[in-house]
Amino acid sequence: MSDSILKQKGDTSWFTHDRFGMFIHWGLYSLPARHEWVRSYEGIPEKDYQKYFDHFEPDLYNPEAWADAAAKAGMKYFVITTKHHEGFCLWDTKYTDYKASETPLYGKDLLTPMVNAFRNRGIKVGFYHSLLDWSHPDYTVDNCHPMRNNKEYLKNESKKNMANYRKYLYGQVEELTTLFGKIDIIWFDFSIAPKGEFKGKGKKEWGSEELIKMIRKNQPGIVINDRLQIPQDTFTPEQNQPAEWHTVKGKKVTWEVCHTFSGSWGYHRDEQTWKSTETCIKLLIDTVSKGGNLLLNVGPNARGEFDSRAIYRLDGLGEWMKRHSRSIYGCTEAPKEFICPKDCRLTYNPETKRLYVHLFSWPSKHIYLDFADKIGYAQLLNDASEVQFKTSSTWNVKVKKNQACLTLPELKPMVEVPVIEIFLK
Ligand code: GLC
Repeated sequence: MSDSILKQKGDTSWFTHDRFGMFIHWGLYSLPARHEWVRSYEGIPEKDYQKYFDHFEPDLYNPEAWADAAAKAGMKYFVITTKHHEGFCLWDTKYTDYKASETPLYGKDLLTPMVNAFRNRGIKVGFYHSLLDWSHPDYTVDNCHPMRNNKEYLKNESKKNMANYRKYLYGQVEELTTLFGKIDIIWFDFSIAPKGEFKGKGKKEWGSEELIKMIRKNQPGIVINDRLQIPQDTFTPEQNQPAEWHTVKGKKVTWEVCHTFSGSWGYHRDEQTWKSTETCIKLLIDTVSKGGNLLLNVGPNARGEFDSRAIYRLDGLGEWMKRHSRSIYGCTEAPKEFICPKDCRLTYNPETKRLYVHLFSWPSKHIYLDFADKIGYAQLLNDASEVQFKTSSTWNVKVKKNQACLTLPELKPMVEVPVIEIFLK
């Protein structure tokens, strides 16, 4: 097969339209409930981690409820951890028994019903797949591995054969891209930089080229992220909000930032740094105003439920999206001629030629826009009430050349972030 397939790109047209997705991190780490890296952070050997497999019993798991929550929040795609670094698989893979369908108390495939539930609501399907694997016997120790400080364990390193792991990885990705119908995104995580005595892992170790070729064959059009160390369709900064449109070698790229509600991706019972609903909404707006997507994470608990803190925020996002999704879907960064006023974010829909001014803080009565000649009509998006504006000075309102002074109600509308919708001339 020729290498040109590596240059073949996925279909990102729906992706850059839909803008908002749900990340789901779910695995055995939801039982210790203290971060999905708990095995690595605490150096837990396999035999001590086994208790989580033995006690995994998500009896309240209802993927229909998850999909409803995502749809209500306005999320248009979801990305589920088919396997995280711990190695536990949510689907009934033939390559290992370390999977949900072999757990003694639950014993069922978790992935198929999830894919069906989300797909039935028109939500696109994404598979996160960890390149790291802390349970595979041939996976060599690196600086992220739970056994990196365990001298006994390290004695066996020379007997390991990463080629076997590569085969395993390939086989599992083949399953994921052939057994579940159309998959819209495959989201790999991640390539490891060398550190101290440990070598890194990247495209050679993962067999990235072979993986990409196989995936493109099985799923033409699929969106592949950047973490295989061969850049493909999207770039994925995490937990940090970029200052501007993400660029690579000076060029604007298709990008998606992922964020957690709190400080952990997996369910973390005691973690308290939960972002407010307002912050989450502002993250979404800020991302779209810079031409990107937001993938916002939920870590379901070990009984299979989204916890109340997540549901509260998803509901709040949904309330806002119900009236404001027009400023998100199909929108992107506004052309430079539209100068953004202070404490605001602009988004722009090139199809409808409407501009959206998101007011991060509510001004006192007036807001000035420096592109008066472009404004046809203005209204608040939440209730379609007219926003009147003046383009010439009066005795008490001074407007500069090509400036419009918009008059806002004294009281902030009862929405987290009010938006002015401008019909451009
Ligand atoms: C990091 C972490 C991981 C999480 C991911 C999401 O790479 O290793 O736990 O799944 O970020 O982007």
